[in-house]
Amino acid sequence: MSKLNRRTFVFGTAVTVGAVALGGRASAALAYPFKLGVASGDPLPDGVVLWTRLAPDPLKNGNGGMPTTSTAVDWEVATDDKFANVVRNGRVTAVYADAHSVHVEVNGLQPDYEYYYRFRAEGHISPVGRTRTAPAFDTFGRDLLMAFTSCAHYEDGFYTVYRRMAEERPGLILHLGDYIYETSNKAEDPRPRRHADKAELVDLGDYRRRYAEYKMDSDLQAAHAAAPWLVVPDDHEVENNYAGDHRANDNPSLPNGWAKRREDAYKAYYENMPLRGGAKPNGHKIQLYRRVRWGRLATFHMLDTRQYRSDQACGDGWKYCPEAGDPARSLPGIAQENWLLDGFAQRQGTWDLIGQQVFFARRADANGASGMDGWDGYPASRDRIQKGWVQRGVRNPVVLTGDVHRAWANELKVDFTNPASPVVGTELVTSSVSSGGNGADTTGVPDQAGNPHLKFYSQHRGYVRAKLSQTKMDVDFRAVKKVTVRGEPVTTLRSYVVEEGRPGLQAP
Ligand SMILES: [Fe+2]
Repeated sequence: MSKLNRRTFVFGTAVTVGAVALGGRASAALAYPFKLGVASGDPLPDGVVLWTRLAPDPLKNGNGGMPTTSTAVDWEVATDDKFANVVRNGRVTAVYADAHSVHVEVNGLQPDYEYYYRFRAEGHISPVGRTRTAPAFDTFGRDLLMAFTSCAHYEDGFYTVYRRMAEERPGLILHLGDYIYETSNKAEDPRPRRHADKAELVDLGDYRRRYAEYKMDSDLQAAHAAAPWLVVPDDHEVENNYAGDHRANDNPSLPNGWAKRREDAYKAYYENMPLRGGAKPNGHKIQLYRRVRWGRLATFHMLDTRQYRSDQACGDGWKYCPEAGDPARSLPGIAQENWLLDGFAQRQGTWDLIGQQVFFARRADANGASGMDGWDGYPASRDRIQKGWVQRGVRNPVVLTGDVHRAWANELKVDFTNPASPVVGTELVTSSVSSGGNGADTTGVPDQAGNPHLKFYSQHRGYVRAKLSQTKMDVDFRAVKKVTVRGEPVTTLRSYVVEEGRPGLQAP
């Protein structure tokens, strides 16, 4: 910062001085507090959420090394990354009870427009983030380049996937869950890096420290700073394979109970994600399923497939679950199912993109055994959703999936067991950022016997890049060969085209 900037800054009157609006003298009392980077999310045509969290000593205690007092945080949004043309600014108060996290819901912006943002606290200036608004509801806007991924176990690998996603300069990034992991690998298992705290996360301080540790990663920070994100958690933000009120695991013991653990986990999730205030948790519940409209081009239906399961998943691993056929079972819960069907009926955009966590297409073998933590464990629920979009005339449903640490491309059928049943939708499954470590070259598609709708499979770590236009969706499965070393290049393993009005995967 130049001397001029320091001199010209007057606290509270920084509105009109453009490039120097966020100048100021760094406080001797507070070390640099923006070590967790910045983020934005949930764009609207006239605004976006800006996020940061003050943490001068990120792993300290669970409060990031912040005092118990409140801190004023100034923010500004400009049309250029030098902040010569600041179009919005303001001040919020970061409080100790919320781990000095900041969620600014900016409005008054232009639709389908790119912006830059930054924060200032105690004279320190944050890194600059790039974000953008959605197109106006009644316009298509520009074609949208988006990317989505999931599953970023810190110990399993470096975040090259996040770095490569940032370099794509997408208009939007979706994260479909397992942003953090609540457990660590065994000490004897070789891993490229380790969680600072090996114990399983149980309380608020634990979860906060884990987010801080992940967010100190410069590759992750680059991905947040590159584009607005739409985030939904999966299970590891709380506990592996949990389902509604049921725990899949009994370790560790929870002296304060399962509800308190969920309360702590979701509080930390909200504090660390670029979410709107409507997502602020209420006790152990957090409202995260939501629709984000991208003009007339697309509607993102973001699902929560963990909190509302009507019954416990049949369990870990690959098995036959006799209860799975019970029509009363629902994966998203009946209320969320109905909310999704209502959204389909609105048909607001060319593409109905269903961002969710677990494997959607049938993968069961001839005996009906499958991964029962996914939709195969709730086939009646899946039927209602697929038939629901067919009945409502949804032309272009595309399910976006995470969780399985593998890339898949699937065609969806109302009757998966009948090869003559028409294709009614498309599923794109992203591999992981790092979970599972280095992938391996594979040939063929597992579980394809009896499931010819499963078309593509890869074990390599990566993400899905998709370019949405009014006539087609260009899909590229992007991957890196290794995550145990930094800086691997990204390549395209497979490309498909989804044509408007024609569900399923076509050759490019
Ligand atoms: Fe995962």
